[in-house]
Amino acid sequence: MSEPKKLFIKTYGCQMNVYDSERMAEALGGQGYAEVSSPDEADMILLNTCHIREKAAEKVYSELGRFKHLKAEKPDLKIGVAGCVAQAEGREIMLRQPMVDLVVGPQSYHRLPEMEAQVSSGRKALDTEMPEEDKFEKLKARPKAKRGPTAFLTVQEGCDKFCAFCVVPYTRGAEVSRPVERVLREARDLVERGVREITLLGQNVNAYHGEGPDGRDWGLARLVRTLAEIDDLKRIRFTTSHPNDMEDDLIAAHGDCEKLMPYLHLPVQSGSDRILKRMNRSHTRDSYMALIERIREARPDIALSGDFIVGFPEETDQDFRDTMDLVERVNYASCFSFKYSTRPGTPAADRGGQVPGDVASARLIELQALLSRQQQAFMQDMVGREVGVLFEKPGRHPGQMVGKSDHLHAVHVTAEGLKPGDLRRVRVTSAGANSLAAELV
Ligand code: 5AD
Ligand code: SF4
Repeated sequence: MSEPKKLFIKTYGCQMNVYDSERMAEALGGQGYAEVSSPDEADMILLNTCHIREKAAEKVYSELGRFKHLKAEKPDLKIGVAGCVAQAEGREIMLRQPMVDLVVGPQSYHRLPEMEAQVSSGRKALDTEMPEEDKFEKLKARPKAKRGPTAFLTVQEGCDKFCAFCVVPYTRGAEVSRPVERVLREARDLVERGVREITLLGQNVNAYHGEGPDGRDWGLARLVRTLAEIDDLKRIRFTTSHPNDMEDDLIAAHGDCEKLMPYLHLPVQSGSDRILKRMNRSHTRDSYMALIERIREARPDIALSGDFIVGFPEETDQDFRDTMDLVERVNYASCFSFKYSTRPGTPAADRGGQVPGDVASARLIELQALLSRQQQAFMQDMVGREVGVLFEKPGRHPGQMVGKSDHLHAVHVTAEGLKPGDLRRVRVTSAGANSLAAELV
């Protein structure tokens, strides 16, 4: 048998890209590639890129620049750009960086095997189409190799919401959901390979509306409940959700579906109605707060997470105070917050009212300080409590194992005989900056 060719993939951005990178590696596995962890030894380098915030394309070009010497040493080295920058920039990438052999968008990577054959024969390959076909069906079946206890599974892609700041509707296309049977098949397959926790992924995962086995439209709650029937699947999560798609049955599932973990990422972006309107979020501060209340009624101990943008055009001090106030009231377990960055082609890009950079930076610092106080308080509050932990890997100290709690905190336990994939009850003994220590109960 010939030596496998070596593939190095670098993944930027969200969990959906992590999943896509896995599937791309598997697709190229069929072409004789095995993944390696360093670009130096690779026969092919793929950058799976993210375009969500500023300078994304510039980062890709400078990263490519760093591979120049590798290509000089090894002229057969193939270099590819995948993901959302590939979608947005297309052929421009090859024009600016002629050493790039392959450009593939997030909706066309099932065509990688043919594209690889093309680049192997010395030609360039470009595909940024958004074909109707289901790329996941066109991809080879996933390999049967054993894998770790947690996995991502993309069930929905794309976005029809058109928030005024966001490139996703343009790079990932319209909302599409995978049919239920295909999701179940992939989930069962993952579980057979050792997976115990699945995180369902989608840019708007709670807008999932897949065709059910009965030919009807199934929402996310029904999908979650059906997945919960798989015995050896112990935990289910989903991300990212939009407030407007948080339907009653999904809220109810948080209360009564034991395998659905008490963690919800529900971005609101701003606490000011004036800014929410300008962002085209089509929900208000009050409707979000009311939704949070209903979710907490269903699952009082749920850990809430969100995304915030500060410095959106025309954001005044008062608007920012409204965001701080909303954060105070919701009390998040963890959050992501960003300074607004102008994305060419999005509606907000053509507007005036830019907030000066130093003002936006000061707001970001203030917001992040509040969010990190809340995160610390939430972790501190876990001390003395009993939670479930799914163990994933050995820790740094002898006899230590690390896993994730139901609320998605990293947890360290030192105990005899624990293995990856074990799901155990623990009592939290202390909270550090980023993780909890616990003992088995
Ligand atoms: N500027 C800053 N942050 C952005 N996000 C999306 N687009 C932008 C932008 N133009 C943030 C949002 C989103 C998260 C994934 O990235 O908060 O929820
Ligand atoms: Fe972007 Fe808004 Fe869609 Fe989220 S809901 S992906 S922020 S357009």
